[in-house]
Amino acid sequence: MKKTTDTLWKTMVLLLGIGFIWCLSLPYFMLSNADQDIISVATINRLGRDGNVGEGTAEGKGKLKDEMIKDLRADKLRLQLAHMEKAPPLMKRRRDGGEKEKNCPLPPMDNHPECMGKLKWLSQMWESQPCYAGYGVNGSVCSFVIYLSEAGSDHAVVRENLTDLYPSLEKRSQFRWIEQRIRSMERVWVEAGRSLSAKYNLKDRKAKQILVHPGVVTAESKAKIAEAAFEGGPLGELVQWSDLISTLHILGHHVYLTASLPDLRHYFGVDTGGCPPFHSNPNLIYTDIIGLRQIKSVLKGSWFKYRCIIRVLDTFGTEPDFNHISWANKHKLASPFGRLNMIPLQFYTMFPHTPDNTFLGFVVQNQLMSEQSELFKSMGQLTTEALPNYVKNHGIVKGTDVQALLRKSKVFVGLSFPYEGPAPLEALANGCAFLNPKLNPPQSSLNTKFFKGKPNIREIISQHPYAEAIGEPYVWTVDMNNSIEVERALNAILNQTVGTFYMVSNLPISQNDSAFMEAHIEPYLPYEFSCEGMLQRVNVLIEKQDLCSSAVSWPPLSALQVVKAQMSCKTACQKAGLICEPAFFPHLNNANSLAKNSVDCQTSEFSASGLVFPAYNSTQHCWFQSDPLLFSCVRSDESLTRVCPCRDFIKDQIALCKDCI
Ligand SMILES: *[C@@H]1O[C@H](CO)[C@@H](O)[C@H](O)[C@H]1NC(C)=O
Ligand SMILES: *[C@@H]1O[C@H](CO)[C@@H](O)[C@H](O)[C@H]1NC(C)=O
Ligand SMILES: *[C@@H]1O[C@H](CO)[C@@H](O)[C@H](O)[C@H]1NC(C)=O
Ligand SMILES: *[C@@H]1O[C@H](CO)[C@@H](O)[C@H](O)[C@H]1NC(C)=O
Ligand SMILES: *[C@@H]1O[C@H](CO)[C@@H](O)[C@H](O)[C@H]1NC(C)=O
Ligand SMILES: *[C@@H]1O[C@H](CO)[C@@H](O)[C@H](O)[C@H]1NC(C)=O
Repeated sequence: MKKTTDTLWKTMVLLLGIGFIWCLSLPYFMLSNADQDIISVATINRLGRDGNVGEGTAEGKGKLKDEMIKDLRADKLRLQLAHMEKAPPLMKRRRDGGEKEKNCPLPPMDNHPECMGKLKWLSQMWESQPCYAGYGVNGSVCSFVIYLSEAGSDHAVVRENLTDLYPSLEKRSQFRWIEQRIRSMERVWVEAGRSLSAKYNLKDRKAKQILVHPGVVTAESKAKIAEAAFEGGPLGELVQWSDLISTLHILGHHVYLTASLPDLRHYFGVDTGGCPPFHSNPNLIYTDIIGLRQIKSVLKGSWFKYRCIIRVLDTFGTEPDFNHISWANKHKLASPFGRLNMIPLQFYTMFPHTPDNTFLGFVVQNQLMSEQSELFKSMGQLTTEALPNYVKNHGIVKGTDVQALLRKSKVFVGLSFPYEGPAPLEALANGCAFLNPKLNPPQSSLNTKFFKGKPNIREIISQHPYAEAIGEPYVWTVDMNNSIEVERALNAILNQTVGTFYMVSNLPISQNDSAFMEAHIEPYLPYEFSCEGMLQRVNVLIEKQDLCSSAVSWPPLSALQVVKAQMSCKTACQKAGLICEPAFFPHLNNANSLAKNSVDCQTSEFSASGLVFPAYNSTQHCWFQSDPLLFSCVRSDESLTRVCPCRDFIKDQIALCKDCI
């Protein structure tokens, strides 16, 4: 009996001892873990990922530990900083720096775990690159901290004006048209920013370093878009770039604009012997297909580390099969714009074309929004002899004049071309109805010169599919060859406007503007094409869409609704009042998930030979996609039933699901 007690006692002492040692060493382990975190976060940052990636731990469980690590880390940082100040090279500097430095307040660094690694690195490297001296780095810890904190880790605050944006726009003639559009819309952007902040908490956001490189405006692209803009050239892309730049700025991010190859080289420090320019290390890069090629040519192989933070503005969209290099080569999907092997969601489109891409959109103006501006709109280059004499050709008209004309009009008549432009939405926003011509046969890159070479085979059955979906009483999609159909639509439009007075309140309009008092249908502007709608959408995309990590974190899985059908997922989801969400494909791509959705796979295989997987045939043989870049919403296979990942969406904000904000 005594022996047992003795043994028990000894065991307890031993356990207590182990416990004590364990307690002592715990902070050490945590610190070394924290160190690893720092290193991995720093690596991720260098790979071009957002610094947040490394911080996301499972909620709840890790919260207390996180807090402790944070405290320990802050203490460690203070100790190391003190240690660094004693280091010889710094001492040398400090002697001539004198006592002044003691007054330099160090910002709290508790929330920036990656900072220590950067500080260490900078303290070792700053003298090897003369450029740092130019940025005010002088060897003192204080100057390191100032440099690093200005290089970005502050909070994003919704801006109250666009003032800071103008100098870098003015500096480059390529941005002339863009600058004018941005200036003319400053007031509405600022109001939209205020209005959005009032509805959502936009406070806890990090200000991101964002590079914006519109390849299309560069002289090197030879596209001459920037020059043609004032002479009736195509404006769609410039409109989208203007609105994106305004959005990023209003949202409080740091926007860097480049408009030439030398600009790009400078930004990436290619000409400065590898010395990173002040604000390199972007969190996000917006460019277009031309710009992406330029980035690749400037950075050579090292462009790859920026790969997952790149967003490619791509007006008409790129379907996954055209994007996939070996698939496109094998199936002869020739397109000068395809084969980029990006994640299809990295392509940002003008309209919500294929759900495989991300819908970026732009802002539709109405007369009440724009201030005096010299913007020009192309009204086509029709020769006068082609026109019946009752048609008045206004030629190339300023943007504000176009809107005034629209205000005085009742119908905006589509002439079957250009396809999918901004003009019909502008007409709706100014109180016109839109007569939208049916296209027969459906037009696509397979049969239409305009779409030829575009990296998709999307078919459109009217001039403006987005407007078509808005429908009557705003949009009347008619067969222009059928005069009875056209007449019926016109009568209905004229009839519905009689006696309807459109009143405007609270807006500074001239009393003499009789157009405002004329009969009109209600102006119609889908929320997603307003400034506020664009701010909301882009903000959520910036904060939530992470294409660097392979795990799906957004949209939340709670939004997933599975639909099974023998058609494309785009159509299948649409029929269910939903939209295909490609981010969910990986989640459905296994037998377990299918079983949960009552698909009982008898046999199955992983394959990269199709674009419709996951799918199954009538004897329950299942196919799963082995190449994630070949997931696609838009293809179908008659013999197979597709298992489609759909989600809901906010009305008039199709890019976002109800749980997505
Ligand atoms: C070094 O830079 C810091 C921060 O800008 C400044 O406070 C300090 O006076 C500078 N020291 C010298 C020696 O210039
Ligand atoms: C612009 O807004 C910022 C705050 O966002 C403010 O500090 C600055 O004074 C404003 N500038 C002008 C010219 O209004
Ligand atoms: C209208 O007629 C033209 C010329 O015959 C034809 O090419 C076009 O396909 C027709 N449009 C529709 C919608 O049927
Ligand atoms: C115009 O509207 C009135 C009442 O809504 C209706 O009775 C009439 O048939 C309509 N006329 C035409 C030409 O559509
Ligand atoms: C009102 O507009 C008409 C037509 O644009 C113009 O002739 C007239 O002078 C204007 N009247 C005033 C008071 O501005
Ligand atoms: C389904 O696919 C499997 C595997 O390719 C095949 O053996 C089977 O015959 C197919 N069933 C039908 C009905 O085609």
